[in-house]
Amino acid sequence: MKLFAGNSNEALSLDIANYLNTGLGRCDVRRFADQEIFVELKENVRGEDVFIIQSTSYPANDNLMELLILIDAARRASARRITAVLPYFGYARQDRKPGPRTPISAKLVANLIVEAGADRVLTLDLHATQIQGFFDIPTDNLFAIPEMSKDVGARYDTENLMVVSPDVGGVVRARALANRVTAPLAIVDKRRDKPGESKVMNVIGEVTDRDCILVDDIIDSGGTLCNAAEALLDQGATSVAAYITHGVLSGEAVNRISNSKLTELVITDSIEITASVQQTKNIRVLSIAALIGEAIRRTSLEESVSSLFD
Ligand code: R5P
Repeated sequence: MKLFAGNSNEALSLDIANYLNTGLGRCDVRRFADQEIFVELKENVRGEDVFIIQSTSYPANDNLMELLILIDAARRASARRITAVLPYFGYARQDRKPGPRTPISAKLVANLIVEAGADRVLTLDLHATQIQGFFDIPTDNLFAIPEMSKDVGARYDTENLMVVSPDVGGVVRARALANRVTAPLAIVDKRRDKPGESKVMNVIGEVTDRDCILVDDIIDSGGTLCNAAEALLDQGATSVAAYITHGVLSGEAVNRISNSKLTELVITDSIEITASVQQTKNIRVLSIAALIGEAIRRTSLEESVSSLFD
């Protein structure tokens, strides 16, 4: 087995390699003077089981292109099998046609990854689980909920807990956490007038005097989360914390969280943790390096990956 990584998340890639008691394969991924991407694998991969770790997070286009070119390099160097490991699969939010003349970008990106030469995909908390079907190659979609539930169990008195989905689309994910920590479930009925703007309408469920935990797959601008937190506190919740897999955190999101009434936002390191996130007191990082490392190990040994979640 050989691991290679693009430039999207060096810290996580090294942690995954450490978990597997190995190092990252030597490769050059840099820019030509005009910013085109230059790639060269610096070690032999002929006949090897190659894993390429790259989140297609900001800058999404550059990181996606690095991934595609790395896959192409491994394919042309006769790797036996290539697994694209995407701790965060970007371009997932246009996953269907809600109206005429809109693309399905998630399908387009899946096609690009397959066409580049990936034999398998390993990813985490896809924005919509059906994106798995956009790849005509084996695709494992890991879940952060088991890691989150261990953390919740260790820190909260589950007697008084209420797990909350910040929108109707996230109910399945929130229910998975609620079941694992044996807590009831509430839902914030969120309506979005324009992409990128969120508006909270209603809280479905009795949250008065409860410690609420919001669960979501992505935090981008932070609007969904902060509005949901406000709505829960307005309804009499004692406290509100959040567990969100992918900390996209663009624009003013980190400031927004820092100035919010959230007791804590817990994100994973699927997207590189910036210095400003590290310095924000109410943001904590839960590493998924061991989860991804273990899934890579099992894939390589042809062992069950789904049993990771039993
Ligand atoms: C929406 O369906 C997603 O699950 C997230 O709730 C959304 O992407 C969060 O975006 P923002 O932080 O910009 O409100």
